[in-house]
Amino acid sequence: PIKALLFDLDGVIVDTAIFHYQAWRRMANSLGFDISEEFNEQLKGISRTESLDLILAQGGLTLSDEQKADLAARKNGWYLELVSQMTPADILPGVTDFFGQVKAARLKTALGSVSKNARLILERIGMLDDFDAIIDGTKIARGKPDPEVFLKGAAELGVQPAESVVFEDAVAGIEAAKRGGMRVVGIGDPAVLTKADRVVASLAELSLDEVLIF
Ligand code: G6P
Ligand code: MG
Repeated sequence: PIKALLFDLDGVIVDTAIFHYQAWRRMANSLGFDISEEFNEQLKGISRTESLDLILAQGGLTLSDEQKADLAARKNGWYLELVSQMTPADILPGVTDFFGQVKAARLKTALGSVSKNARLILERIGMLDDFDAIIDGTKIARGKPDPEVFLKGAAELGVQPAESVVFEDAVAGIEAAKRGGMRVVGIGDPAVLTKADRVVASLAELSLDEVLIF
């Protein structure tokens, strides 16, 4: 039986995936090139430093570690400007209702995000207390598609991977869940998230009952 649900943050609970894209784009533009929405799909679920490396490669730039640290900090500053405007109204459609069903069914929940800003965002949207465990970018050595973030979440909840379902908007995150031996609901476009067990446009389309019979 399913005992626990593990949620990605950016693009699943809130639409910060767009803020990440806007901030990276602003950085790329400042360096004289652009990044497409299609390219951005590869960045979802990928750590800040790995994202920067992929973007610089895309722009054909090789920079020093110091320059890279400076750019990563600048991007994060722009990103946090957008995050600072967030309120509970930014919670994505269906999330609050779905969490109500999860609590009523007494299932455990964990956050599984590569972001180092995850706690800050949960605070802003008033969802810090909605998770029994929070695994974020400060607690892991390897980003998605490595399963570490989800395996740590399941371990902290005291459940087996096979008793867990992951909710993810990123190709790398779906791969991480699969490598970890978990079932996974993709949030987004079925043509992009081909490895998910089920894909919905948002949690508003899904009832908990459908997840429990997975
Ligand atoms: C999530 C997002 C990525 C982001 C990463 C690190 O995985 O999907 O787009 O790069 O977190 O986020 P951070 O807030 O630490 O820069
Ligand atoms: Mg995501």
